[in-house]
Amino acid sequence: MGELLYAQGITKIFPGVKALDNVSMRICDGEVLGLLGENGAGKSTLLNVLSGTYKQDHGEIFLKGEKINIETKQNALDMGIAIVYQELKLHPNLTVAENIFMGRLPKNRFGTIQYKQLFKQAQELLDFYQFDIDAKKELSMLPIADCQMVEIAKSLSRNAKVILMDEPTSSLLSHEVERLFEIIKDLKTKGIGVVFISHKLDEIASCCDRVQVLRDGKDVGTRNVSETNENELVKMMVGREITDVFPKKTNVPGETILEVRGLNRDGKVKNVSFSVRKGEVFGIAGLVGAGRSELVRLIFGADKKDYGEIFLKGKKINIKSPSDAIKHGIFLVPEDRKLQGLVLQQDIEWNIVLPLIYKLQKILGYVDTSNSREMAEKQVKRLDIKCTSRAQKVVTLSGGNQQKVVIGKCLQTAPEIMILDDPTRGIDVGTKSEIYNLINEIACRGTTIILISSELPEVIKLSDRVAVIRDGEMRAILNSGDLSQESIIKYAIEEDVKK
Ligand SMILES: Nc1ncnc2c1ncn2[C@@H]1O[C@H](COP(=O)(O)OP(=O)(O)OP(=O)(O)O)[C@@H](O)[C@H]1O
Ligand SMILES: [Mg+2]
Repeated sequence: MGELLYAQGITKIFPGVKALDNVSMRICDGEVLGLLGENGAGKSTLLNVLSGTYKQDHGEIFLKGEKINIETKQNALDMGIAIVYQELKLHPNLTVAENIFMGRLPKNRFGTIQYKQLFKQAQELLDFYQFDIDAKKELSMLPIADCQMVEIAKSLSRNAKVILMDEPTSSLLSHEVERLFEIIKDLKTKGIGVVFISHKLDEIASCCDRVQVLRDGKDVGTRNVSETNENELVKMMVGREITDVFPKKTNVPGETILEVRGLNRDGKVKNVSFSVRKGEVFGIAGLVGAGRSELVRLIFGADKKDYGEIFLKGKKINIKSPSDAIKHGIFLVPEDRKLQGLVLQQDIEWNIVLPLIYKLQKILGYVDTSNSREMAEKQVKRLDIKCTSRAQKVVTLSGGNQQKVVIGKCLQTAPEIMILDDPTRGIDVGTKSEIYNLINEIACRGTTIILISSELPEVIKLSDRVAVIRDGEMRAILNSGDLSQESIIKYAIEEDVKK
């Protein structure tokens, strides 16, 4: 194996924070290097430097032994360094094919786009990697998992020598992750080097050859995957040992608080009924695209239901919009924080507190806004949001810390019913365990939690009951005694399950 890319002594300083402090990284051809570290450790920053998004303040980069100067993303691409982002940077209103070949669309000599050729090229690429995606589809029609695949296909289409993947699996389900790992294996045989960021240690173990750990912008060390273990890696990441990721459940569900009867929408949610109790953690499992997010969006009023009824404490309520839901004490932390949860150009305080205050003010007539600063600071502290101050723009926070801001916003409303749609996506082990504790703690105080998660251990360990959704239908509600990965998968996947 020869050396492909070598970054030497990279330092990157942002106002108030040294995101990278003298970090070196080496990647050889046909090798997969895992990059691990807590939220805000500097992982994305390092990949952003290598892909030309940011310019390092110190340090040098070598491609096959030759010193290179990466000024722009285009530069990096031309040299064969492509990046797949943690948060998708695609155009939702264009087709899959246009997204893949954006900037390189086949045109005739009059400049007209040759769609037939474009779709053919794109479809061939997608089929070659067995992505099972229709190149002609508009991107907005696809679930996040498929969009991620498109992003990966896009970098593959550029004949990249090095592919930098920033949490590519964070929104994929296990079989899709396997699909991705197959692709990565294939890339290895073609001599491509891959850098792979993930918070999931089992993924690092099964996909990477070596793993490098960053902490607070510093290089903590690199290990051969075959010569290390989870304990060592966690310790390198957080600087201490974490023994119990999941808290001991101590919540005691009370009486029924919310009941949903016959909810329907557009063939995506079909006749779903269930009820949840006060202080209960009610898990919702199922494959990506099964209709889990669609279901909770109906309860929150983010989408309109075709028919169905919702009862709160025995009384029928009419939820037409999210503000109706908030008025009734129901809050949703959405799946896609960039689209639905945050205003990136605003600061932390604005995102956590102000929109809610204004909303509540409209509903209730009067709310005290004078202490918004303290409220924001309280959430920053409670969730240990890594930032220079509450006035930091959200766009400049690391991915995991952005997610914490969304959760802080939810906590700030002190809802009676809190719906969390994949709340730990992109969150590091240490913080995950804090969020799990928080979920238990909130439930103990009598708040009902509806928890969607793609990580089965998470729903199993945290929930009192778990509903399994497939094709928009509720297939089963499993009690804690019957909860296992097998029982959930059985209902989530199998075609003919006999009750
Ligand atoms: N454009 C920016 N302006 C200011 N600070 C930034 C900017 N981009 C990143 N940072 C800061 O640099 C540090 C490292 O962030 P980075 O996004 O690299 O973390 P990460 O390891 O990818 O974390 P995560 O696991 O949460 O994605 C953080 O403190 C972050 O707030
Ligand atoms: Mg990141």
